[in-house]
Amino acid sequence: MYQAKSILQSLLMILFFRLSISTDSITLTQPLKDGDVLVSNGERFALGFFSPRNSSNRYVGIWYNKVSEKTIVWVANRDHPITNTTGILSLDETGNLVLRESTQPSVFWSTNVSGVENNDVSAQLLDSGNLVLFQGQNRRVYSWQSFDHPSNTILPGLKFGIDKKTGMNRMASSWKSNGNPGIGEYSFKIETIGSTQLLLYKGTTAVWRGGSWTGHGWSGVPEMTQNYLFNVTYTDNNDEVALVYLIRNSSIFSRLVLNESGKVERSTWHDADRRWIVFWSAPKDECDGYSHCGPFGLCDPYKSGTFECDCLPGYEPRSPQDWYLRDASGGCKRKVGTEVCKEGEGFVELARVKVPDTSTARVNMSLGLEACKGLCLRNCTCMGYAVADISGGGRGCVTWYGEMIDTRTYSDGGQSFFIRVDAEELGTPLIHSLMLFNI
Ligand SMILES: *[C@@H]1O[C@H](CO)[C@@H](O)[C@H](O)[C@H]1NC(C)=O
Ligand SMILES: *[C@@H]1O[C@H](CO)[C@@H](O)[C@H](O)[C@H]1NC(C)=O
Ligand SMILES: *[C@@H]1O[C@H](CO)[C@@H](O)[C@H](O)[C@H]1NC(C)=O
Ligand SMILES: *[C@@H]1O[C@H](CO)[C@@H](O)[C@H](O)[C@H]1NC(C)=O
Ligand SMILES: *[C@@H]1O[C@H](CO)[C@@H](O)[C@H](O)[C@H]1NC(C)=O
Ligand SMILES: *[C@@H]1O[C@H](CO)[C@@H](O)[C@H](O)[C@H]1NC(C)=O
Ligand SMILES: *[C@@H]1O[C@H](CO)[C@@H](O)[C@H](O)[C@H]1NC(C)=O
Ligand SMILES: *[C@@H]1O[C@H](CO)[C@@H](O)[C@H](O)[C@H]1NC(C)=O
Repeated sequence: MYQAKSILQSLLMILFFRLSISTDSITLTQPLKDGDVLVSNGERFALGFFSPRNSSNRYVGIWYNKVSEKTIVWVANRDHPITNTTGILSLDETGNLVLRESTQPSVFWSTNVSGVENNDVSAQLLDSGNLVLFQGQNRRVYSWQSFDHPSNTILPGLKFGIDKKTGMNRMASSWKSNGNPGIGEYSFKIETIGSTQLLLYKGTTAVWRGGSWTGHGWSGVPEMTQNYLFNVTYTDNNDEVALVYLIRNSSIFSRLVLNESGKVERSTWHDADRRWIVFWSAPKDECDGYSHCGPFGLCDPYKSGTFECDCLPGYEPRSPQDWYLRDASGGCKRKVGTEVCKEGEGFVELARVKVPDTSTARVNMSLGLEACKGLCLRNCTCMGYAVADISGGGRGCVTWYGEMIDTRTYSDGGQSFFIRVDAEELGTPLIHSLMLFNI
């Protein structure tokens, strides 16, 4: 009797184990129902239905399989939740993944792939956290991948940026709130207006500029240096502009998240403390706020007790009254009585700055610093210049025409920026530029 019970138990155990064994793929004959979970081959990521905090809505998402605090990295039906647990994610005859409710024909989410000839398709959750729609038996060709449609999280290996051939921009967009993964108001992306830059938007308004790529980091992220944790690859050519982070040690979990309060955070999972530790975030201070001091303004957060806004050398507040009331949004204008493109003019160097918005700038990677100065000097509409790539001694030339917006200083990092001034300004050492040199 006892033995029979024990055999039964073992049988049940085996049966249970069999049932709970999860695969990493959805196939034509094997859809994913609410309650089922796909687990990637190396057990790093899981995919299934979930409800956010304080919500009974059901979403299809991907999360870390081994992180004890449930951390969603991707959501399929962001703005179309299912209100009960009858959801089913399946492959249809056109080779697309479709999320429906089993009792109703309405579609809550689907991929949009056309021209898939082979019916032999499958969706596989990879160990990188990428859900990939493969065609054919050898799984060489893919027709869709979740890494091309990020939610609020940029995972290592995800190509953040633009495919110039298709126009696809892989950007991050915030959740609506902690309990609602719907597309929120913040977006974080690479843009190629003028020269390539990294920008954070609230709706259509720029709120922070990560800036241009200066060799080993973004101009607006001075703390980004070669990191022991990551191997960073930046590509900017005719086909694409993209940034990829790879983790050197694959047992470390790291993610970049654009959160609901419009902050970009990089964190790593500390298993001993069972929590995510944020080790970098942006924007940080008031000078990170886009165009905080207006056109031709210079933001310096390290001045003690006084207004952080200043004007670039050779410029003065457009409205002294507003400036006095600490509203610098109107920016600065060239000082009265001064003119450039005259005898004796030249450039004042500001050290350790984030160079202005390059959407109105030109870049020539084959020019050095001296040639850059000459190029700027020869053209009366050129307002300033800087080195494009500051790694390895400096390379390339950026020249600004028109308004120079969103310039700030750093206590450490940043680069030199050269501003065109007239002969008189050149002979008058400015208090603030002197201070900058002496920080
Ligand atoms: C979420 O639920 C917790 C308890 O489960 C409650 O304390 C909290 O107020 C709720 N938050 C919201 C925004 O409803
Ligand atoms: C699930 O909810 C939908 C409405 O969202 C409803 O039409 C459907 O009948 C429900 N199914 C079950 C089994 O409750
Ligand atoms: C699917 O893609 C086609 C063209 O590729 C487009 O016209 C259509 O609007 C897309 N549908 C959805 C639901 O995104
Ligand atoms: C960085 O990653 C690339 C692509 O995987 C690899 O070829 C390169 O060797 C790596 N570099 C370092 C320093 O790990
Ligand atoms: C990788 O990270 C794990 C966990 O933090 C650590 O135990 C291990 O020593 C690391 N391996 C290397 C090669 O640094
Ligand atoms: C967003 O990130 C910032 C910076 O790490 C943090 O202070 C803030 O609490 C976060 N907000 C939410 C809603 O998580
Ligand atoms: C960059 O400068 C070089 C040397 O003056 C010139 O030959 C080349 O045409 C310039 N390239 C661009 C894109 O302006
Ligand atoms: C000065 O630069 C602007 C912007 O690049 C250009 O449109 C203009 O033709 C240049 N003028 C001269 C005289 O080279």
